[in-house]
Amino acid sequence: MSTISRASDRISRYGVLLLALTLVGGLYTAFYAPKSSATEQQPASSQSMAVKEGRDLFLTGCSTCHGLNLQGGAGGPTLIGVGASAVVFQVESGRMPLNAGEVQAPRKQPKYSVAEVDQLAAYIQSRGGGPTLPPGSLTDGDLAMGGELFRTNCASCHNAGGAGGALTYGKYAPKLQPASPRVIYAAMQHGPESMPRFGDNQLSVAEKKSITRYVSYLTKAGQPGGNDLGRFGPVPEGLVVWLVGIGSLVVLTLWIGNRA
Ligand code: HEC
Ligand code: HEC
Repeated sequence: MSTISRASDRISRYGVLLLALTLVGGLYTAFYAPKSSATEQQPASSQSMAVKEGRDLFLTGCSTCHGLNLQGGAGGPTLIGVGASAVVFQVESGRMPLNAGEVQAPRKQPKYSVAEVDQLAAYIQSRGGGPTLPPGSLTDGDLAMGGELFRTNCASCHNAGGAGGALTYGKYAPKLQPASPRVIYAAMQHGPESMPRFGDNQLSVAEKKSITRYVSYLTKAGQPGGNDLGRFGPVPEGLVVWLVGIGSLVVLTLWIGNRA
């Protein structure tokens, strides 16, 4: 091969690489880059658009249970005054729309996109107000402070590692691992089911942001050591080592004995 064709070969290979990188970057910004939310400050016109679209979504997806005017009914409670945060919590975690007959609405695959959640939230917020997510990043708090506050305010129900736990009467505090920062922050403002509500008097905005940062860190920090075993500490870890370790020694011994 001549040097010229080898050089052009290399250039075209760089070209393909560059193209691939651009494509990945473009896809990333299109799908994963943080989107601004309607609960943040926005020009009045796009806000009223969101309210209108949220109303349409509400009428098709939620009004059978919550009433055509949010007044509630046999299928569900009134949503007047529950606030945008309640909607973010319930819909972004897939709890709403509810399937009938459950003790506690479980987390499900969300049915609405983040943009649609914000439209629903804007509509319900426009009817009676209520708590909304603060503008800006929800995770720019202090990690160490968040850890401290989590252990005093949340760990009794959700476990120190965020693995969740059983409560009374078939209810449970769920594991926190799947919750997005928005759902974590909104959970504290909303206080769903038997979870207490942490208003700004109980935990300031800075404190709630610190907890949100800590919970995101806790649940997304990866599991150093492979499977987390529910993060219950050394006892199950010891048990696994014992079962797997001793077990394989026994099998090995039997195998050697068999061969002899
Ligand atoms: C099949 C009936 C049903 C449908 C459909 C439904 N909900 Fe609900 N919703 C309920 C019930 C029942 C509750 C209360 C029990 C609970 O929180 O688990 C509730 C609770 C809520 C709450 C919390 C209210 C509070 O006071 O704490 C919000 C917010 C909410 N729903 C929003 C929605 C939205 C938005 C939709 C549409 C995307 C929707 N729901 C669809 C039945 C329903
Ligand atoms: C008294 C027990 C209790 C305490 C204390 C408590 N929670 Fe909860 N938490 C619950 C229950 C019960 C639910 C489930 C609510 C539901 O399913 O509607 C929940 C749900 C959540 C979720 C939703 C998880 C998911 O599936 O997306 C988050 C996030 C959360 N809590 C965070 C916190 C944080 C942060 C604190 C401390 C500031 C806290 N909780 C304190 C009982 C508790």
